[in-house]
Amino acid sequence: MTPLDGSNENGPARAPLEPSAAFRADALSGLRATPKRLSPKYFYDTEGSRLFDAICELPEYYVTRTERSILEAEAGAIASRLAAGGPCRVVEPGAGSGTKTRLLLRALGPERCVGYVPVDIAGEHLEQAAAQLRVELPWLRVTPFAGDFSVELPLPDAEPRARTVVYFPGSTIGNFDPAEAEGLLARFRRAAGPGGLVLLGVDLKKDPAKLHAAYNDARGVTATFNKNVLRRMNDELGADFDLDAFHHYAFYAPAPGRIEMHLVSARRQEVRLGGEVFTFEDGESICTERSYKYDLASAERLARSAGLVLTDSWLDGARRFAVLLLRAPA
Ligand code: AVI
Repeated sequence: MTPLDGSNENGPARAPLEPSAAFRADALSGLRATPKRLSPKYFYDTEGSRLFDAICELPEYYVTRTERSILEAEAGAIASRLAAGGPCRVVEPGAGSGTKTRLLLRALGPERCVGYVPVDIAGEHLEQAAAQLRVELPWLRVTPFAGDFSVELPLPDAEPRARTVVYFPGSTIGNFDPAEAEGLLARFRRAAGPGGLVLLGVDLKKDPAKLHAAYNDARGVTATFNKNVLRRMNDELGADFDLDAFHHYAFYAPAPGRIEMHLVSARRQEVRLGGEVFTFEDGESICTERSYKYDLASAERLARSAGLVLTDSWLDGARRFAVLLLRAPA
């Protein structure tokens, strides 16, 4: 899910592009590539976010429900670990402020949480979510921060006595290839500072049939979500994708331990975007998402490669999902 604009973990290589210019540049370079690919971050316009919320409610998509159940059962224990050395501030990259965040913040309470910093690129959504949270938790100091967590997190300074906890739920880490995931966790480590913490939601390896069902739901919501990126390119970039001429295709690849989501061309066809013509052979695909699944050992290795130490883990009874606590060296 790394930006394709040459930025890296030390920051952007050049001035960031306007969102629509970045979408256009990424779409063009992804469609020129072999094999063709698009970043999953472009799923999430208003319609894509609505479709993702619908996915989270599907019977097949156990991910959101299971992580929430862990938080419901363990928020007290997790809060005790987060605030073991004194009060903390919670920083959440991504839109955030969902049910799981509320469970965590409530469990911490005013004594153990000095503030909450939601970080997101979309400033307007961020302000609305912050205003709502202030109503629900009047004791909480909410300081929204507009920024791109996939580049760097130059956070406002914390109160000196408060430890920073970077909270990254939802198994979003799975949408990054291993090297990107390592870079992202290393950025979180730097944002948390020496002795800081990262609380991470990770989807676990399991029966491939269960994984397959989660990304191939009977109602076809995931298929519509996948095709939303084609609709966006038509609406926002003037492309002429025929949505009926691409099929949703998602499968679990056990060797790399990931779901791959593709849009497969149903016939030989040409598509125009930005003055260029892209040829699709019959059966040629665009890879739109990878969703890596971990076990505790591989998650621990990933954490270690990013300079973090796994200190605690909380799992559901069926071991579908894990909430992991990672610590930065003091
Ligand atoms: C956001 N992310 C963790 C989801 C996942 O499971 O990889 C996105 C998703 N794609 C299809 N269904 C859900």
